Amino acid sequence: MKYTLNSNNNPATDDQNCVVIPVFSDEKKAKLGEAGKLLDKASGGKIKSILDKGDFKAKTNDTLMMYDLKGVNATRILLVGCGEVSEYATNTVNKVSQAACKAIQKTSIKTISCYLADSIAKDQKETAITQIIIAFADSLYQLHDYKSKKKDDPKLKELTVSSTDKLISNAQKALKNGVAISQGMQLARDLANHPGNVCTPTYIAEQATKLSKKYKSVDIEILEEADMEKLGMGSFLSVSKGSDEPGKMVILEYFGAKNRKEQPIALVGKGITFDTGGISLKPGASMDEMKFDMGGAAGMIGTFKACVEMQLDINVVVVLAAAENMPSARATKPGDIVTSMQGTTIEVLNTDAEGRLVLCDALTYVGKYNPSVVIDAATLTGACIIALGHHISAVLSNDDELADDLMSAGITINDRAWRLPMGDEYKKQLKSSFADLGNIGGRAAGTITAACFLGEFTKDYKWAHLDIAGTAWAGKDATGRPVPLLSQYLINRANK
Ligand code: BES
Ligand code: MN
Ligand code: ZN
Repeated sequence: MKYTLNSNNNPATDDQNCVVIPVFSDEKKAKLGEAGKLLDKASGGKIKSILDKGDFKAKTNDTLMMYDLKGVNATRILLVGCGEVSEYATNTVNKVSQAACKAIQKTSIKTISCYLADSIAKDQKETAITQIIIAFADSLYQLHDYKSKKKDDPKLKELTVSSTDKLISNAQKALKNGVAISQGMQLARDLANHPGNVCTPTYIAEQATKLSKKYKSVDIEILEEADMEKLGMGSFLSVSKGSDEPGKMVILEYFGAKNRKEQPIALVGKGITFDTGGISLKPGASMDEMKFDMGGAAGMIGTFKACVEMQLDINVVVVLAAAENMPSARATKPGDIVTSMQGTTIEVLNTDAEGRLVLCDALTYVGKYNPSVVIDAATLTGACIIALGHHISAVLSNDDELADDLMSAGITINDRAWRLPMGDEYKKQLKSSFADLGNIGGRAAGTITAACFLGEFTKDYKWAHLDIAGTAWAGKDATGRPVPLLSQYLINRANK
């Protein structure tokens, strides 16, 4: 897909296959904006006469395709309903762009000129441009499947974001950001959608190596199990022990700040390439979806790619904790006690609470970079789906400013997160009779006790944890979240 910008133009003279214009509803009637009015004028009032019939009410996600209007260069005009102006929110752009893309995918349209609504506030125009690109790319994404009959490529090849007035100078940057973020999302989705027999810890390491070779500003280091042994990562190793696939800790570094020594932002991802539960075996229903249990690692690699593509003026280090959680004669058993890199002893009361076991050593390891903040992302707890469903990720943090920054980045880019509390009352649930910590805290507040476990390893720095169990995939398809949220956070940090 090619994405371009065009400002200060008249849609009647656009020579794309289709002009896409937003239409708001006003007292249940469709009301044209500037682009619509220009087209209407050129066509001698044809659009208004169609709207006067009252069939198209411009409710959010309504679409209406019109053909061969006199005086209009493009052979098609797509009206896209955006609902009432007063209810217009940042996620409207995303929703209606997806609806427009679906309507276009049913046609043979190759090129479109897509108009920004003039009712969007000036300071939100940039985000709207970024959102349109993300929404179209997301909607055009094709699941990398393994069917022998290949799908046809999407016909749409070129999207021009257009405006009737002159666009602000940052518009080009907003477009570039949208392209970079959607590339990051695509990488995350591809990685997560691959089945567990393809996407192993070794595969994740290979993909990260590929990425590091592509960019001069990126370095890579891969810790093998023997290296982790030397570092005392007994907690991580207790998870990969039951698997024939060797565990890997993958470290990617990006130096984008003017000062190479500037404290980096650290991103840590849970990369369980398949979670059977281990000896505490999961029930069979939907277990296939546990191939998505590396969604945190996929999201961090995707965010990293977006960041490098945007050439943000920051330093970033990514740590991916990649392992497979299997039952076997060599697997860790409930009641086994292991020693983490930090020295904290852990009683593994449930081998299915493995994410925190690989993450805690990664969180200790990343401390050596003296990071300004550490953010981890993990499909950590089923309880998170009970708390927040599939719409919003959970954020838990030891720093109010960091939690707020993440939540507001999520609102800007339409990839929301909501904060859950932490505290000593919850931490007490992790008591073990024999070791410093148990790895489970009972049924109550499962997302919070999991975060409290991680919090025992993140005391030296500002830290936030994203539980993406409900948001990393939908149905049988990875979503690419939280790439938008984290990319926006990094953009905001670079602009600070
Ligand atoms: N990967 C799962 C969490 C999960 C489950 C994510 C379902 C998305 C959908 C995690 O490793 C896990 O098994 N967590 C347990 C923790 C429990 C044993 C304390 C859970 O949530 O049941
Ligand atoms: Mn598990
Ligand atoms: Zn898991």
